[in-house]
Amino acid sequence: MIDLEVAKNEFMNYVSNYDSSIMEIDKKIKHSLRVMEQSKNIAQSLNLNEEQINLATLIGLLHDIARFEQFSQYKTFSDYRSFDHGDRGAKILEKDNFIRKFIQTDEYDEIIKTAIRNHNKFSIEEGLDEETLLFAKIVKDADKIDIFYEASELMLWHTDEEIKQIEEGKVSEDYLETIKNHKCIYRDEQKRPKIDSIMLVASFVFDTNFKYTFKYILENNFINKILDKFNYKEETRKQVDLIEKIIHDFLSEKI
Ligand SMILES: [Fe+2]
Repeated sequence: MIDLEVAKNEFMNYVSNYDSSIMEIDKKIKHSLRVMEQSKNIAQSLNLNEEQINLATLIGLLHDIARFEQFSQYKTFSDYRSFDHGDRGAKILEKDNFIRKFIQTDEYDEIIKTAIRNHNKFSIEEGLDEETLLFAKIVKDADKIDIFYEASELMLWHTDEEIKQIEEGKVSEDYLETIKNHKCIYRDEQKRPKIDSIMLVASFVFDTNFKYTFKYILENNFINKILDKFNYKEETRKQVDLIEKIIHDFLSEKI
């Protein structure tokens, strides 16, 4: 049996070691709680049994457990400049059997750790059994939903300078091509115009799995809200209109 009240209390206890007056820490606490909720919603939409719904919910709660250590030590959420927070999350739970604070039984340990390790990867590792793959996909979708929510409803990370760069930029042709092909954009290390990072987030729709997710994104108009925040140049506006149409059509077809 999974006791989510206990798990949530333990989670709040763990994050109380970090200073929630720091915006980034507070943001990740709230993100974790929302992803917890969305993981539950997705699991319910799939008609999973109660134990499976609770397991998905628990994974959602814990998926970003390494973010707190990451920001405290490195002052960044960039895995590239610090550590892989999916891998580290699984390690944190493993260390001194910390995972037992959140769940009494050890029968789901591998599923939990594998789902957390994979949630931030471009693609989920090959060779997982069906059940593990299911939970890895659930938390990935739940995380994506909240990334869209944050990008559309909150505007925490754009400075005036960045907004100016976005509005003056033009979407790179290869990014546009990837979106036309309904593929998620891979973040390479090439120096990119700022506007490309917005398109990269929008392209996450092509890396989602469940009807619930497609519907939620469409009903909340997340993509248009994200893309329409900016006053683009005429030529770029045409690119963005096309991207919005491609994504809208893609989502509509999925539901
Ligand atoms: Fe994450």
